[in-house]
Amino acid sequence: MTLPKEMLNFIAALIEKSVGIQYAEENYYQLEKRVVEVSVALGMQNPEALFHSLREGRDQKALSAVLDAATNNETSFFRDISMFDAFASDLLGNPDFLGNKQDYVRVWSAAGSTGQEAYSLAMLLRQWQLQKPNRNYEILVTDYSERVLKQARDGRYSELEVHRGLTDEQLKKCFEKDPGDAKVWTIRPELKRQMNFRQVNLLEDWSGLGSFHVIFCRNVLIYQNVENKKKVISRLYNSIQPGGYLVLGAAETLIGLAENFEIRRLGRAVYYQKVAKI
Ligand SMILES: C[S@@+](CC[C@H](N)C(=O)[O-])C[C@H]1O[C@@H](n2cnc3c(N)ncnc32)[C@H](O)[C@@H]1O
Repeated sequence: MTLPKEMLNFIAALIEKSVGIQYAEENYYQLEKRVVEVSVALGMQNPEALFHSLREGRDQKALSAVLDAATNNETSFFRDISMFDAFASDLLGNPDFLGNKQDYVRVWSAAGSTGQEAYSLAMLLRQWQLQKPNRNYEILVTDYSERVLKQARDGRYSELEVHRGLTDEQLKKCFEKDPGDAKVWTIRPELKRQMNFRQVNLLEDWSGLGSFHVIFCRNVLIYQNVENKKKVISRLYNSIQPGGYLVLGAAETLIGLAENFEIRRLGRAVYYQKVAKI
């Protein structure tokens, strides 16, 4: 390691305080690599200059770049397919899901990264919508990172990205080749129409987003400490409609973190239902 440990300690603490992501000391080599990359990208003389700028606390651009670089944005279309099978058959396919005469679904892809999770949901919701007139939906996609949100908003994916999770049929039906770049696939406009994109830090206030029938908040809490997990989950609870659902990553659980959700096993997926208040 070339950067002094005190500098890495400071940067790790700043990242944890801002977005909750924790760097254990054994991963400082990774942190250092990212700090070096950010300092080069920002045209700084050396990584020490980036540290000084972060310590002074006046360079918002430097802070955003470091927080952005600290995030893991791994995602793919229909990641953990059982979660999407459950969404399509047990929720959208269940006439009682929305209650009497309601035909409007609101879904939030919280920490949605580059948008594959949200567009997978959009493909299912679009099919559901086409089955009956008057059906409608809205998908909110949020992430802390503006960089990944931009890609989500643009709906543009490489060959590699579209071939992670999409069948050829889905690709043809839902995407078109970018006229300016034959190696890029762009989501068709009809799938993007009901989507909104916003930068949201899950550790900060997100009031004003309204309430949702289903929140997908997958593979992000895994990086947070228990206190943050509990805080975020209790606020997610308040953002879910009575009877609505929270969906976590395949390796995540609410056990020990919240008691006000009922566990529902839907096929091979686990969904957490907010018990309806009477
Ligand atoms: C591993 S990706 C998960 C993407 C998608 N949910 C999935 O499961 O495929 C984690 C995402 O969480 C975002 N993230 C990390 N900390 C966050 C925070 N405090 N608030 C909002 N987003 C955060 C990262 O920018 C990253 O895009």
